[in-house]
Order: sequence, then C-alpha cells, then structure tokens
Amino acid sequence: MSKVVTIVGQGYVGLPLAQEAVRAGWKVFGLDASELVVAKLNAGESHVDDLTDDDVKEMIENGYVATKDPSCIRDSDVSVICVPTPLGVAGAPDLGAVESATRSVGENLKQGSLVVLESTTYPGTTEDICIPILEAISGKRAGRDFYVSFSPERVNPGFPEYGIKNTPKLVGGLNEASTEKTVEFYSTFVDEVVPLSGVKEAETAKLLENTFRHVNIALVNEMARVCHELDIDIWEVIRGAATKPFGFMRFTPGAGVGGHCIPIDPNYLSYEVRRRLGYPLRFVELAQEINNTMPEYVVDRAAERLNSEQKAISSSTVLLLGVTYKPNIADQRESPSRPVATGLLKRGANVIFHDPFVSNWDLENGDKLDRVDNLDEALQKADLVVMLQAHSSYDVPALEANAKAFLDTTGRSLEAANRI
Ligand SMILES: NC(=O)c1ccc[n+]([C@@H]2O[C@H](COP(=O)([O-])OP(=O)(O)OC[C@H]3O[C@@H](n4cnc5c(N)ncnc54)[C@H](O)[C@@H]3O)[C@@H](O)[C@H]2O)c1
Repeated sequence: MSKVVTIVGQGYVGLPLAQEAVRAGWKVFGLDASELVVAKLNAGESHVDDLTDDDVKEMIENGYVATKDPSCIRDSDVSVICVPTPLGVAGAPDLGAVESATRSVGENLKQGSLVVLESTTYPGTTEDICIPILEAISGKRAGRDFYVSFSPERVNPGFPEYGIKNTPKLVGGLNEASTEKTVEFYSTFVDEVVPLSGVKEAETAKLLENTFRHVNIALVNEMARVCHELDIDIWEVIRGAATKPFGFMRFTPGAGVGGHCIPIDPNYLSYEVRRRLGYPLRFVELAQEINNTMPEYVVDRAAERLNSEQKAISSSTVLLLGVTYKPNIADQRESPSRPVATGLLKRGANVIFHDPFVSNWDLENGDKLDRVDNLDEALQKADLVVMLQAHSSYDVPALEANAKAFLDTTGRSLEAANRI
C-alpha cells in the first residue's frame, strides 16, 4: 500500500511538491482553503506557472486529489504545510495562514506521523508557534507521538533548470527521529537532502539565502545609480567583474525587487531581530531602503530620457513592457512595475502596458491601465518605451530600433545610453 501525504496549500510551492510526491508513488492529497483552487485542480487545470494542465491531469490519473476537507490528514503519514506568509499590519509577519493550517493538522493528527513546515518564516516559528498548537489540539507529544521538522522551500518559478528534484533540500528536525523521518520522506523524490543540526538553523538558512539576494541586488542598484552619475556603463562593469571565476556573484540592477520572497522574507528576519534583541538588522533595512527607491529612480530616468527628446513627461505616452516581477511568468506579486506606473501617472504621463502573460493589470489604488495587444501600433503611439521585464518573446533590439525613445531596465538594450 502506498504511503499517504497531505500537502497543505496548493500554490506555487505546494503544487510542484505534490507533483513530485505523486511521481514518487505517494498517495497525495492537496489540501487548500480556496474552493476555486480545489475545483480548478480537480478539473485538471493548473493555476501556477510551473505546471501545465496536462501535468495536473497526469497527477489526477496517478491518484492525486485536491480537497478542502482536512480529514484527509487522519490517514496521512506526512503533512507538509506550504501556506503563505505575507506581511501584515505595519510590516509585521502575518502567520495567520500558518496557524490555521497547523490547527487543521493538529485536529486530525495521526499517531506516529510527520509534520513539516515549508513556509518561509522567522526563526522559532516551528517550535514556538506550530508545535504548541499541534500539541494542545491533538493532545500528543511532539518528538514522541509525532515528528516535526522545518524544511524551507527553494522553488524558483519560471526557471525549470532547477526544480524540486535537483535542488538540495534542507531539513531541520525537532529531534533525531524527526530529522531521520523527514530525510527519508524527501529522499523519495529529491536527489540530495541535507540535514542541519536544528529547526532554527533550517529556518534561518532560508532567510540568509533571501537576504543575501536582497542585499546584493541593493548593492548593484546603488552602483547603477552612482555609475550613471559618473558616466560609467554599469552593465559593462558587471560583465567585467563577472568574469572572475571565484569570489564574485553576478547580480543585475533593475526597477526594484518583486515576488513573494525577496521583498518580504528579509523583513521576517529583521522584525524578529528587533523584537528579540532590540536593535535593527542594518543590512536588511538599508537594502530595503535602496531597493524601494528604484521604481522612482526609473521614473526619473524616464523623465530624463523624454527630456533629451525635448518632450515633457506630462504630455507623453509611456509604454511599459513586461509588468510581472520576473521574466516568463505571470506572477505580478509585489512587482515594482506598479510603483513605476503610479509614479509616471503622478507626473501626468499617459501610461499603457504590454505583457504577453498579463491581460488585466490593476494598480495599488485599483486603477486599471490600458493593455495594448498590437505592439507595432503601440510603438508608434508611445513617446517612450520602458522595458521593465525582458520576457523571452520580446525582441529587444527590434523594439529598440522601432521605438521613438527607449529605456531599458534589464540590460538587454544594445545602446548604453538607453540602459538604466
Ligand atoms: N512562490 C515562491 O517562489 C516561493 C519560493 C520559496 C518559498 N516560498 C514560500 O512558500 C510559502 C507558500 O508560498 P506560495 O508562493 O506557494 O503561496 P501561494 O499563495 O501560491 O499558495 C498558497 C496556497 O495556500 C492556500 N492556503 C492559505 N491558507 C490556507 C490554509 N489555512 N489551509 C489550506 N490552504 C491554505 C491558498 O489558498 C493558496 O492556494 C510562503 O511562505 C512563501 O514565502 C514561496
């Protein structure tokens, strides 16, 4: 008889995990609080970029069931929690979904089963928040009657080169037995599972990874601004530095940081450092400050670019290309293109957009921007084209050649003067 796993939260993280577990022969329940998500999945429709409808259909053929009913946990040998961890009031971590998912697990916990938290969160969440909930509700003892680990998710939507199978998986268990059981579970479908000494180490490793990206993006964004002032081509600088085979990692400037991880996760760390130790995690706060200024910087550069064409931003049409937070996916969460559009509108520009992945685009205040379908016509209409996300379907040199004026935030433009 195959073993049973319930994966709580069937989003960008939980659904690809469910796919790999199904492939490895697990009986998988995809538990989700959203009726719409459950209905779509059971109808064979994918709602995340990395899986196609055919992938979901194949999962169903192999026994996958999406459900809103947590009673599936009663039969599950493993429960993995992959629910959102957004920011709440005043930028504080919002663990509402983690707490409610943990309650669902606690209410249905099977003796001897394993519970793994994958959601990104601050150190201490598994032991100080999840375990007390699980123990209080189930009446069982963690580490003895059931096992608990934290294992951070490392998915990178839109980049198929590294998926769940070939990305090493970190595991931090509450005790040795928990670590062992978790390693055993993930080893059925992940090539390399790396046990760490404890739960908090695994929680913090994830935050270090994301903070590392956040800080290095901020560094290169600041370098881009300084280089522009000094009339130095930052993209050539990066191209040169990146030839060093050791001690340097290539990061590139852009319109800001977006997505579900980089703009949010380091806050979980800095919030907890301030709360527990009473002082700021300065690198994180500085990186935040720098990265948050980038959308306005792009607006300034757009105005500068129009000025060099003797045009005022207030009487210009600006076409934004690519409004998602990274290339070749539809995910718009925390995309810096929103504050860019808002900044341009504030200065009186007529803003239109094109994105092959996005049909409707709302700004923070709910305003909708006009989407253009015909790129050639839009190029004729636009006084300035701003490339925000270089989806691979965009032929950047051709777009640049046909635009009245071009500003590229992605480093693809052939003209140094057109790049931020
Ligand atoms: N998206 C990424 O690239 C990525 C990468 C690494 C880590 N993470 C982390 O993984 C976690 C999940 O992120 P995601 O991108 O998959 O989120 P998501 O929004 O794509 O999906 C989460 C799903 O959980 C469901 N859900 C919410 N509360 C629930 C509950 N109480 N019970 C059952 N289902 C519930 C939602 O309906 C949704 O379908 C977050 O902590 C995130 O920071 C995300």
